Amino acid sequence: MGIFHWIDARVDLVGIKRTLLDRAVARNLTWWHTLGSATLAVFIVQAVTGIVLAMYYSPSPDHALESIRFLERSVASGTVLRAIHHWGASAMVVLTVAHMIRVFTMGAYKFPREINWLLGVILLFIVIGFGFTGYLLPWDQKAYWATQVGTNIAGTTPLIGGSLVTLLRGGAQQGAATLTRFYSMHVLLLPALLVVVSSLHLFLVVRQGVAPRASELEKNAPAKTSDPAYPQYYAHQAHKAKSGGYRFWPDIITKDVVVATLIISFLVLFAMFVKAPLEAPADPTDSSYVPRPEWYFLPFFQLLKLVPGSFESAIAMGVPTLMVFALLALPFLDKKSIRTFSRRPGAAFTLGGVAIATAILLGASIRDEPKNVIAPEVGRILTSTERAGRTQFERQQCGGCHKVAGMAAVPKKSDAPDAPDLTEVGLRHTTAWIHSYLEDPVRFHPDSKMPAYGPPTLSHQEIEELSRYVGSLRGPDPNKAPQYVDTFPEPLKAKESSK
Ligand code: HEC
Repeated sequence: MGIFHWIDARVDLVGIKRTLLDRAVARNLTWWHTLGSATLAVFIVQAVTGIVLAMYYSPSPDHALESIRFLERSVASGTVLRAIHHWGASAMVVLTVAHMIRVFTMGAYKFPREINWLLGVILLFIVIGFGFTGYLLPWDQKAYWATQVGTNIAGTTPLIGGSLVTLLRGGAQQGAATLTRFYSMHVLLLPALLVVVSSLHLFLVVRQGVAPRASELEKNAPAKTSDPAYPQYYAHQAHKAKSGGYRFWPDIITKDVVVATLIISFLVLFAMFVKAPLEAPADPTDSSYVPRPEWYFLPFFQLLKLVPGSFESAIAMGVPTLMVFALLALPFLDKKSIRTFSRRPGAAFTLGGVAIATAILLGASIRDEPKNVIAPEVGRILTSTERAGRTQFERQQCGGCHKVAGMAAVPKKSDAPDAPDLTEVGLRHTTAWIHSYLEDPVRFHPDSKMPAYGPPTLSHQEIEELSRYVGSLRGPDPNKAPQYVDTFPEPLKAKESSK
């Protein structure tokens, strides 16, 4: 208490409390009114988990994925922390959109809150920017190829497309510069923007108060909010609505805290059971990989698939641009003073139409989800090189002698020698060692029973593919670190010269 008085005497804490919390609010505010503060609460969770993740993360193509694997393997709660941040990003998008729908259906973007609606639209795009830049950071296949598509779409912008792509990628190609750039946007630029814009947004909420219920602002209202008499009407009605004795603290704050606590608890619980995905390292040569964006971009992605090629770039740029302008223009186009949703057929029709179209597109895209089949023996989607190697593994009947747990068993030939189990061979040997071994096992074990697969049996490239696949066999436990025991033979001079 002593400290409180000491500070209060100097900075007037009581005054701050009075202006921020001790205000009259309109009666009958709903639980839907807590969505904005819930978004803010999840953002704080994102900031805290993000800071910890940044302490382990290395923003370079060579180390990004490995630094995340290290975090998940060796840091206490690292996996859960990353999962909270990963799913929290989706929660931010869902909550922001839900909050906007609440404001839209209650007509709260109308006079005098047009500016705050604009700030809200900007915040939506900042949140999406966070999602887009964050998606690249693991630098796995999914990250790499989805961002490739995303930046390509930006490239279809008329006139400035080329420069925009260069700006985003930090060069013509997607590479190390892109990762650095996205990382700096994700941890410096976007957080700074978000803090500034959301502070303004909150400042206006405090300044204008929460909008009273629609019904409080409709009795005998002028038809248009642009009517010169409207501001006075509004002030009068808002004052009346506030006279019900409800206070910001504790009436509103309590609801906010309850909802925020529930949402964050759910997020943490969810993250404890569902890990954030991580695929194979990005392979820029693997053009067979089917890219998938984050789920909230799927409806848009699906729309692009439906339009014929010649229209694609028009739709790719046109639809988002139209959406931005429609959202920004909304409070200036809609000047009717009616706020109750059921009495605004145009608004109901628009929202319903957008919702149904989005749901149909999302459903279609989930149905069309490309089957990047997970190889059970590796527990993840294979790169195209590894896939080719796996085919070779089957064709050469390596399984006739070797067992790999998780892979369909091949009947052992009666004359097959006892061969080592290859389930975890990638933990014992590097790809380079496996490559040399497959070429000529006798060089390694003079009495080897294993056939040599060097040319002409298989080409160098086929052996390399095979070795990549065999090297990726690391057993069922993804946290097991490799311990290589590669021993290369002394050059067998006699044998070499006899060739
Ligand atoms: C005729 C049976 C046979 C076939 C077919 C065979 N191997 Fe082997 N493989 C062996 C035997 C036996 C060994 C044990 C070491 C030795 O004899 O050289 C071995 C060893 C290995 C090793 C080293 C394992 C270790 O832990 O040191 C690898 C890797 C390997 N094989 C991969 C393959 C691949 C890939 C194929 C298919 C292209 C294949 N093998 C086909 C019999 C076979």
